[in-house]
Amino acid sequence: MAGHQVINFSFWSFLLVVVMVMFFTINVSSVEQSKIKGMEMNVIDQCWRFNPEWRKHRQQLAMCSVGYVGKMTNNIGKDLVNYKVTDPSDHPLNPQPGTLRYGASKIQGKIWITFQRDMNIRLERPLLISSFTTIDGRGVNVHIANNACLMIYKATNIIIHGIRVHHCRPQAPEMVMGPNGKIMPLGQVDGDAIRLVSASKVWIDHNTLYDCQDGLLDVTRGSTDVTISNNWFREQNKVMLLGHDDGFVRDKNMKVTVVYNYFGPNCNQRMPRIRHGYAHVANNMYMGWVQYAIGGSMGPSLKSQSNLFIAPTENKEVTWRKSSNAIGDTWKFYSIGDAFENGASFIDTKGGQVKKPNYSLEQNFEVVDVKFVRSLTSSSGVLKCGKTSIC
Ligand SMILES: *[C@@H]1O[C@H](CO)[C@@H](O)[C@H](O)[C@H]1NC(C)=O
Repeated sequence: MAGHQVINFSFWSFLLVVVMVMFFTINVSSVEQSKIKGMEMNVIDQCWRFNPEWRKHRQQLAMCSVGYVGKMTNNIGKDLVNYKVTDPSDHPLNPQPGTLRYGASKIQGKIWITFQRDMNIRLERPLLISSFTTIDGRGVNVHIANNACLMIYKATNIIIHGIRVHHCRPQAPEMVMGPNGKIMPLGQVDGDAIRLVSASKVWIDHNTLYDCQDGLLDVTRGSTDVTISNNWFREQNKVMLLGHDDGFVRDKNMKVTVVYNYFGPNCNQRMPRIRHGYAHVANNMYMGWVQYAIGGSMGPSLKSQSNLFIAPTENKEVTWRKSSNAIGDTWKFYSIGDAFENGASFIDTKGGQVKKPNYSLEQNFEVVDVKFVRSLTSSSGVLKCGKTSIC
């Protein structure tokens, strides 16, 4: 009797062990799988792209940002207005319902803008995006091109995702609807794809920007807490400017994260050019340059971490330094874990220490080994999202 019980007991404990082993094996293999997938998809994308129902859960995106922008919690939740652009036309002073400008400038408060169908939008004047606005181009092909482009002027909590901005042209001073829905005078603009002026908490993700008269992305006049991720920058002389002019000392507080972007082909300089502030430039892919990739003046600090720099035939040096008599030569450019191909080189600043980004918990992300940068940036720019599949 007692013997029978012992056998019985060991049978059940054996079965338990078998079940546990099976359970852990299955579990481990799914962890392994997502690890493998994870290496092809960066942390931002992993956060929402695996969801085949992303169209029904568009706002999931807001919690996927990393870097200085933090999470976009203020762009979702109670009181959010869903707005669909149905009309590609534009009127800068009296925008009509259904147009992009009506949603982005006129309506105030939390708004999530999507597009009914593929659209080419030719803006008559710069579009001034108001605070708490998301522009979400996923699932359709939206071009903002061939005239005025995007501006974030004295506004905060803005997401721009999944649009193509190109062939932007300079604009003469004109009246335009401001980010508060009121008509205001706007000075001359240079023809940038996206320009930030005294803006904060802005996330620019998965856009394709190219061939503009001035630059592709300018972060200026006290703008800070910006993350520029997963974008594709190409066909451009001046790509990205962080800190607009030498005299604007308030940009000392500027903090920008530049991560998982693809630069090239045919980018000349400023990836980025930085003045005053601090940039964490990590896990980006550099497909050549002409003058330089990373440069600056006025005591900028830049941590270049685990980027892949592929040099062009002519000029192998990544960095460029412009002397500024006013404050002496005090660039802090540090390279950590970067990879250099085709003879690329990076002149590190001698002495001193690279500044840590000091990310908070919600800003923090793991910078991955540079050997994964090719795959992590392989879907940069506007994503191709199928009708029924994952994005
Ligand atoms: C992070 O904190 C350290 C220590 O306080 C400081 O020296 C450094 O400048 C900070 N980094 C940035 C980007 O401000």
